[in-house]
Amino acid sequence: MSASIGTVAARQLPVLDVGCGINKYLGAIGLDRNPNTHADVVADLDQFPFPFADNSFRQVRAIHLIEHVADVIRTIEEFHRLLAPSGRLVIATPHYTDFSSFCDPTHRWHLNSFSLRYFGDDNAGYGYYSRARFREISTHVRLLALWRYLGFEFLVNRFRRFRRFWEFYLCYIIRGKVIEWELEAVKPEPGR
Ligand SMILES: C[S@@+](CC[C@H](N)C(=O)[O-])C[C@H]1O[C@@H](n2cnc3c(N)ncnc32)[C@H](O)[C@@H]1O
Repeated sequence: MSASIGTVAARQLPVLDVGCGINKYLGAIGLDRNPNTHADVVADLDQFPFPFADNSFRQVRAIHLIEHVADVIRTIEEFHRLLAPSGRLVIATPHYTDFSSFCDPTHRWHLNSFSLRYFGDDNAGYGYYSRARFREISTHVRLLALWRYLGFEFLVNRFRRFRRFWEFYLCYIIRGKVIEWELEAVKPEPGR
């Protein structure tokens, strides 16, 4: 995953790994509410605002975190606030048809590969959910191994229209595993 962001100063900003658990991203500042993790900052992401200044990270990573928080929209708005202009948000979460999505009783949300469209241009008329705006860099769906070997993962990721068809008609049979998004924060440079 790339990190092409505006100014030289912004490129030197740190990476924040929220809900880092014991798999903190190399070189990142880790945040978790559980002190028995590799967190550098122990904080609860259900409490707002998060304990960092505006525009202070070049990348925010939320790997298997978003399904645990109380308020998805508000949490992503906080990520937007923390990111420098053009900073990147990386999110991974189980697809709602994966075994783990409903198996884990700590999961509050069960998402599909279009669930973050409300922050982008393709908001289906629901842009009023939030003022935070992101540009989609990539959306990648991982499928269960059998379907990957049969070529369905390639089709789902290669053709957006096929992904939509898959979400509507096929995903209860050709089940998803993980959704991975990379989004770019759309916001003015500070002071402009
Ligand atoms: C499924 S684990 C994922 C850990 C790690 N990102 C990984 O991929 O291995 C979810 C993590 O999010 C943390 N978490 C869940 N809800 C949280 C919250 N409201 N505030 C802070 N951390 C939270 C949990 O403590 C846990 O470490």
